[in-house]
Amino acid sequence: MKLTHEQHQLLDGEAGAVVAKYFRTLVDWGRIMGAERLVKVHSVHASGITASGRVAGSVTKQAAEATLAQVMEFTSVKMRAPTATHVARICLQDDKGGGVSAEDREFQQIVIERARAAGIQLTWTCAPYIAGILPTKTQICAWTESSAVVYINSMIGARSVRNGAESAIGAAMSGWFPEFGVLLEENRGADLIIDVEQVPGDELCDWGFLGYFAGEVSGLRTPVFTGLPAPSQEAAKQLSAAVATGGGCTMFHIAGITPEAPDLAAVVRKPVERIRYTRADRDRIAAKLNTLSGTDIDYVVLGCPHATLEEIRIIGARLEGRKISERVRLEVWTAWSVKAVAERMGLVQAIENAGGRVLTDSCPSITRSGFGKRMVTNAVKQANYLQGMTGHEVAVGSMDQVISAALSGTWSPQ
Ligand code: F3S
Repeated sequence: MKLTHEQHQLLDGEAGAVVAKYFRTLVDWGRIMGAERLVKVHSVHASGITASGRVAGSVTKQAAEATLAQVMEFTSVKMRAPTATHVARICLQDDKGGGVSAEDREFQQIVIERARAAGIQLTWTCAPYIAGILPTKTQICAWTESSAVVYINSMIGARSVRNGAESAIGAAMSGWFPEFGVLLEENRGADLIIDVEQVPGDELCDWGFLGYFAGEVSGLRTPVFTGLPAPSQEAAKQLSAAVATGGGCTMFHIAGITPEAPDLAAVVRKPVERIRYTRADRDRIAAKLNTLSGTDIDYVVLGCPHATLEEIRIIGARLEGRKISERVRLEVWTAWSVKAVAERMGLVQAIENAGGRVLTDSCPSITRSGFGKRMVTNAVKQANYLQGMTGHEVAVGSMDQVISAALSGTWSPQ
């Protein structure tokens, strides 16, 4: 890989040992991936800037100590590229004993101060694009959240590979990223055509089922969908999250809709496999993700990826003047800035008066706070993660089904 004089100086420690350490890791990764040069990075979304959540039982003492050391390093220098934070492992608003110790609470306050001093945007969200962090077409990014990576590549035409905490922070500290994968125009074509016969409508879970199917059949390939209408931001969010959950995709195209696919020919540059998505496929994915036995439920999670203002508006309108079942805990997860506007609109109050919570910073898959055993959601990704990580029994369905379940404490499959 060819490096400039300035880049060599960074490697030699001109900006300090910490920058040199993470920059070297990034350069080494680039060499392994066959990158020929480094390119300027315009936007970073960095995980790993968080207290450990150790009392929540999600990590061992050693892992907690490693996290502490890493976060102190991550926040010890000023960032050169605009850098937003991914979710934290704890939720500071978790008032009902979600397992956040005084020690973790105190440390997260220190993390907040250190991140602010390092010039980091204190977003703590998995969906930075709902909080005003929105790169433009062809801009080079180093984002960590897989659903957000898929979203910005596919829906906007910005360019990011799927990053880990170290590569993202290396890009943030140095301002550079190795040019490989979907950062290069020639790697952004489609490898698989999916003709969508079972077209999702307004229900977000149906976009999730389609995305999960696409992820499963694509693996590491890039699918292009035909027959789809333009998704809303919320539908595109579900589609992106589910594609990244079902498989290892970095992006997708929608023929005639997404910015790099004015038509099929624009993204299908060689003969590729072609498959159909049918009603039977949708039902198979839904059955796979629905593991709830019986009908009693005790936990409802909305906002995966973090909820937009419009999603919170819909939830608030449906819960206004009503009461959630006493045996159910309902959480709506979002970004701080979105919650602030929702508060101005009286939506947070409507949800809280009904007995629910609007929470920021994290999500149940990350905090693993252990609420409930029988969870309901409209999000494929949350369903998949909570089943796998915490053993929750899960039902995934429409917003109507989810809200009805929250009010009655009972899941109704149709
Ligand atoms: Fe975000 Fe948690 Fe879902 S980090 S994408 S709400 S699993």
